[in-house]
Amino acid sequence: MPYDNVLEISDLSVDFVTDRGVARVVDNVGITVPAGTTVGLVGESGSGKTVTSLAVMGLLPTKVSHITGSIRICGREVVGLGEDELSNIRGADVSMVFQEPRRSLNPAFTVGHQIGEVLRRHEGLSKKAAHIRAAELLEMVGIDNAKRRASAYPHEFSGGMCQRVMLAAAMACKPRLLIADEPTTALDVTVQKEMLRLMKELQQEFDVAILFITHDLGVVAQMCDQVNVMYAGQVVESTTTDGLFDDPRHPYAEGLIEAIPDPYSKDRKLKAIAGAVPAPWDWPTSCRFNQRCRYAVPGVCDAHPVSLHATPDGGTVRCVRSDELELRGLA
Ligand SMILES: Nc1ncnc2c1ncn2[C@@H]1O[C@H](COP(=O)(O)OP(=O)(O)OP(=O)(O)O)[C@@H](O)[C@H]1O
Ligand SMILES: [Mg+2]
Repeated sequence: MPYDNVLEISDLSVDFVTDRGVARVVDNVGITVPAGTTVGLVGESGSGKTVTSLAVMGLLPTKVSHITGSIRICGREVVGLGEDELSNIRGADVSMVFQEPRRSLNPAFTVGHQIGEVLRRHEGLSKKAAHIRAAELLEMVGIDNAKRRASAYPHEFSGGMCQRVMLAAAMACKPRLLIADEPTTALDVTVQKEMLRLMKELQQEFDVAILFITHDLGVVAQMCDQVNVMYAGQVVESTTTDGLFDDPRHPYAEGLIEAIPDPYSKDRKLKAIAGAVPAPWDWPTSCRFNQRCRYAVPGVCDAHPVSLHATPDGGTVRCVRSDELELRGLA
């Protein structure tokens, strides 16, 4: 089936069965990732970024979660597919790297075996051929002595190297889409920089699109063409990366930009948006950000649910006051 977007999520909602009843932790989310581009998904802890990406991967626990809406990967609807079909898509069309590489690698198997497993499953390679290819992939992600290191176990690698191993496994079958869930958060800044550079190189080489999940707007600026800002289970702004930084339309996006530390500022205090993302059962039915918003008007912002509307520059925003506010970006 021909497609322009490797990922099209529309009206995606995820409900979890919890001790306190059913909680809708992802609510009517829409995200599009055009082929070959990098799209950011940003938001504070608990906003629903990982749950959204696990829904795309078909990795949510089926017993306690329920998905509605549509997720199209390379033009194919995946909501409702069985585990067999999903596991054919995972690794081949879409793959993922996680925040904690050590937890995603199996300590009982060599890294070469784990990368080779993906190749044996999807490309039917023999054990020997898969091991040789795994060593080539390790070399591609910058592991020295790749042939020898393919026979090493994850505990013999640093955190940054484990993340490279994960990336090698994720890229093994040349997927069209890579989901990177905070892939550099656990790394120190120099290793983080290297990892981001490597991802960009691989993107160009393999023409893979990336859905980049992060809470770091510096990483968004460096990596992303477009960005979706998520708050309390909803996308509240969707725009180009330049659009977000120059002309944010949602007060939450403005707050995130303001919170970027400025090393040249004399004011050493870190700025933060007051308060925290409430738990899903405490999300207001009106604008979910209104209790933390400095622009909130009683009777307006806390009165009705707010839907996304188009902005003049081709993005979307979920704020009833966005047309009248003059928010500050970096420009
Ligand atoms: N298995 C689960 N059962 C119940 N609730 C869950 C489950 N997994 C996640 N949640 C809830 O869903 C909400 C969104 O979580 P999610 O992990 O997607 O946030 P996030 O945006 O990725 O945050 P972080 O930046 O901390 O990674 C949270 O309130 C979380 O507690
Ligand atoms: Mg997360």
